[in-house]
Amino acid sequence: MKRISVSFLSSKNEEKDLLKLARTNADYIHVDVMDGKFVKKKHNPYKKLSKLSNQIGKRLDVHLMEKNPLKNINYYASLNTEYITIHAELEKVDKYLDLIKQYGIKCGLAINPDTDISILLPYISKIDLVLIMSVHPGLGGQTFIDDTIKKILKVKKMIVSKKSKAKISVDGGINAEIAKRLDFVDIIVSGSYVTSSDDFEESINILRKNAGNKNL
Ligand code: DX5
Ligand code: ZN
Repeated sequence: MKRISVSFLSSKNEEKDLLKLARTNADYIHVDVMDGKFVKKKHNPYKKLSKLSNQIGKRLDVHLMEKNPLKNINYYASLNTEYITIHAELEKVDKYLDLIKQYGIKCGLAINPDTDISILLPYISKIDLVLIMSVHPGLGGQTFIDDTIKKILKVKKMIVSKKSKAKISVDGGINAEIAKRLDFVDIIVSGSYVTSSDDFEESINILRKNAGNKNL
């Protein structure tokens, strides 16, 4: 079964939407953290999530778009976090992955649309997740980049050939139609399609239905 992870980056009212998401059947809440350096904008909802932690039972899927993710690895490890994902384009990737693992949290590597998948090779057998960016990071509500479909297949082949346990997640521009095309994907990240809809649960159900089970 494919999992649905909902990003609230485009929310007009984050607190309200987080509490709404907590009551849906979403598998994860996708937390986008931006440092104003790796990407232009800044965004860090740590304090908000920490404050709401006893009202939000959902596991967090944390996506750190930061040049130096050290501090936030430590912060987010203290929340109800299933995955912490850093970017493969960084230096000292190994050091960060080891730190995430020391906390007993699953670690992921994200790759930007222009990054070749060969960057994953040194780490593929030690990571739990590959997060394939299907838009340029930094902003919600962008259009899905079509080349991602070919990239997903290549990453899947690498995972199989290296006997890695890594799951595949795709992030950016995913709506009901795009969801139909995401074979071999384990986790679908969707933001504005869900948070700009009137009924979060209904949108999540449509994504789930359209995504089907072709990866199994
Ligand atoms: C982009 C973020 C995504 C994004 C997803 O930098 O990593 O998680 O917010 O939102 P949509 O689905 O609106 O592209
Ligand atoms: Zn993201």
